[in-house]
Amino acid sequence: MLSDTTKARIEHELDARTVRVGAWLYRRTGGRLMRPWHRRALILTTTGRRSGLPRTVLLQYFPDGRDMVVVAANGGMPRHPFWYLNLAANPQALVEVGGRTLRVRAQECPAADAERLWARVLATAPDYARYRRRTTRRIPLLRLVPEHDSTRRHQTAVVTGASSGIGRELARLAARDGYDVVLVARRAERLESLAEECRELGVSATAIPADLATSAGVAAVREALDDITVDVLVNDAGVGGRGRFAVERPTTADLSMVRLNVESLVELTGAVLPGMVQRRRGAILNVASIAGYLPGPGQAVYHASKAFVRAFSLALAEENRGTGVTVTTLSPGPVDTEFAQTAGIRTGAQRRTPLMPVMSAAEVAEAGWNGLLAGRSSVVPGLGTRVGVQSLRFIPWRTVARAAAVKPPGAVLTPPDGVPDL
Ligand SMILES: NC(=O)c1ccc[n+]([C@@H]2O[C@H](COP(=O)([O-])OP(=O)(O)OC[C@H]3O[C@@H](n4cnc5c(N)ncnc54)[C@H](OP(=O)(O)O)[C@@H]3O)[C@@H](O)[C@H]2O)c1
Repeated sequence: MLSDTTKARIEHELDARTVRVGAWLYRRTGGRLMRPWHRRALILTTTGRRSGLPRTVLLQYFPDGRDMVVVAANGGMPRHPFWYLNLAANPQALVEVGGRTLRVRAQECPAADAERLWARVLATAPDYARYRRRTTRRIPLLRLVPEHDSTRRHQTAVVTGASSGIGRELARLAARDGYDVVLVARRAERLESLAEECRELGVSATAIPADLATSAGVAAVREALDDITVDVLVNDAGVGGRGRFAVERPTTADLSMVRLNVESLVELTGAVLPGMVQRRRGAILNVASIAGYLPGPGQAVYHASKAFVRAFSLALAEENRGTGVTVTTLSPGPVDTEFAQTAGIRTGAQRRTPLMPVMSAAEVAEAGWNGLLAGRSSVVPGLGTRVGVQSLRFIPWRTVARAAAVKPPGAVLTPPDGVPDL
């Protein structure tokens, strides 16, 4: 049986010997190396306190807003890691993360902050409990603060459609990453229970129950946003609906869909964008769909609404390039949420196809959130979905429309096999 000290030494040696390979693989894979472990990593380059030369290390980090928190655990070794000592001498460093290189300043977390952050570290990476057990020394937590980011206040993320599905998962991710959250949807009790869950992560959470398909609902949210500095806006709320336009489906239902899927998204984006541009920082995530890539007979207005969201958001991404504000379009394929049931179509789980498997809301949200943090303009989660979407470019619109079409007038509206409800 190996003692804790021996285990710490072995792990430390292994880490020291594999760090170059790890950093090389990390760079080659653009950081995707860590995905299977559901952990986040960055490459930290400090300045050697004695040599003055750059010293590079691959580290696990825990996001807190835009800051990255790293733990100087050193595998539970009795001494601090070299990079911690380097940062103590010179807090300026470079971080490579998500394909970007950032200049950061390291700050040691004060005791109260560290206590809160330890809870998050242990929830994501329980192995740190072992490192704490092994050593009697204090394990410091350091906050790597991007240099341009001089504000120390919590940042705020507004998420619409937060009462279920993708929106709820996106709100959870925002709270996990240290954002105060403002949660919008109609079902107040659901929002309150999510808000409670977010508060347990140490952020503040406000529920705004509102019907975004009505001008009164949108106005109420706009009014609430007037008093908040919004750093992130997630426009997720959306509904679908099935039936031939105006023949099998009341036009009023489609107009209500347009008000929610299109108008409220435009209005809320318009409400926060100027402030973001003025502050030269902010991120917007608009949830579209792969339905936005093709006409959808039988769901004509839904597909058209998502084509609007996509075209609008991609244009905004371009308009705001270089302003410090990013706009990300998230276009999922089929996702297992309440969406299909609400829209009166078959549920996602029943529509599992090998080409485009149904994804979970958590997977889709993670892809969208990572895309937002990386400032990407478009995210299509899932390899099969990406291949499907790309192949649409080479097929004439009419053929695509026919393939996506639901059955002729009056027939039960069921898409052909392999054509998913989106
Ligand atoms: N599921 C899929 O297969 C799929 C695929 C591609 C894209 N999407 C898109 O993803 C987004 C989220 O959908 P989801 O799959 O997560 O479905 P979901 O579980 O049904 O969630 C929809 C969310 O929108 C909210 N919402 C609906 N009507 C609203 C209204 N009038 N005012 C305010 N909020 C409203 C709902 O909350 P309340 O009911 O409490 O108001 C709920 O929080 C939608 O924009 C959808 O078009 C879904």
